[in-house]
Amino acid sequence: MLSKPIKKHVLLAVCGGIAAYKSAELTRLLRKQGADVRIAMTQSAKAFVGPLTFQALSGNPVYSELLDADEENAMGHINLARWADLVIIAPATANTIAKCAHGMADNLVTTLFLAATCPVYMAPAMNQAMWSKTITQENIRKLEASGVKFIGPEVGDQACGETGFGRMTEPAEICRQLFAQPQSPNLLGVKVLISAGPTREYIDPVRYITNRSSGKMGYALACAAMDAGAEVTLVSGPVNLPQPSNAEIISVESAAQMYDAVMAKATQTDIYIGTAAVADYSPKDSANEKIKKDAYQINLSLTKTKDILSAVARLNPAPFVVGFAAETNDLVTYALSKMHNKNLDMIAANWVGQTEGGFDSDQNALEIFWKDGRTTLPMTDKHHLSQQLIDLIATRFHEKN
Ligand code: PMT
Repeated sequence: MLSKPIKKHVLLAVCGGIAAYKSAELTRLLRKQGADVRIAMTQSAKAFVGPLTFQALSGNPVYSELLDADEENAMGHINLARWADLVIIAPATANTIAKCAHGMADNLVTTLFLAATCPVYMAPAMNQAMWSKTITQENIRKLEASGVKFIGPEVGDQACGETGFGRMTEPAEICRQLFAQPQSPNLLGVKVLISAGPTREYIDPVRYITNRSSGKMGYALACAAMDAGAEVTLVSGPVNLPQPSNAEIISVESAAQMYDAVMAKATQTDIYIGTAAVADYSPKDSANEKIKKDAYQINLSLTKTKDILSAVARLNPAPFVVGFAAETNDLVTYALSKMHNKNLDMIAANWVGQTEGGFDSDQNALEIFWKDGRTTLPMTDKHHLSQQLIDLIATRFHEKN
């Protein structure tokens, strides 16, 4: 059952993809919710579904021209953008996403995106290879960092005959997410400290030991926590991701620097989430000059780094502490022993070293444990997964406090 819409003026922008047919159903559902729906279409969208279909379903004229002579000031796009309480671009093609990420305004839809001051949502739909291309993912992160909310895509069979991520989310689910009331309890005004990404442990000035963490999981959690109303500080190892706007970012390189940065903030935080893949060992002595390759064999002596998660959990008073566990085997056993040994409030365990999920992937699945419960969050994109994890954390945090 859908809740009552808060936003009445919904501008649905339809781009050229086979999923455009689903937007006809989305129009119907939005109206059923009581929304006044106006449709903007790209020229290629019209090749998939005729404007008349949308006109009949929305009860309003359909717009596709950038300069509209019928509008009194010939500024139809500005008027439409001003009118909207909410913009949803569905399907959002790779092309439109790329253009929006780069501030282009070469058709009505991209111009509306640029002119809109209300919340903007995108429901992507494209071939799975196009979706997983690094450039597409970079464009999505850029848009997310600027406040655009993504709904989907989903995994499954595609019109092109392939299987994978890229199917547009079903209209009923898009509608539900557009009108979802803020979760209760939420994290309004709660201080959340998140560690993300890898660390680098220098052997000499040009060589270091690191791991495969991309930071995607931690950055997605930062965005989800901010969406829930939290004040977020992100202590980040070296990553190649756009910085989420509105989060305080502290950039570090080594495990020792991450320890110092986290501990400096941990006493003023309500929740700590240790997503970072912190090096467990660091070279005992880092050479000041590049090590020459004269010797046939060299031995690297490593010492254990300080455990940040345990140190935060030992604080008195301690924040609500959430650890991660990255495991290649015996996931449940190791996760539970980490939770107990480090005295954590919650642990999120993921499989690593597999083809799907974990390190440097856009998707992940988590087994979550807390003192008297557990749940499974199945494989999905890290942003959707993060919203679910933040909801769980918020619930447990409020129960404890
Ligand atoms: O960054 P991505 O590419 O998106 O990948 C996400 C991820 C796989 C890195 C993430 O989901 C994850 O599992 N992070 C934890 C990785 C890890 O180091 O796991 P661990 O099982 O070795 O460590 C357990 C916990 O102790 C972690 O919360 C870790 O942050 C913490 N730790 C470890 C060592 C140390 N010196 N200090 C710590 O705080």
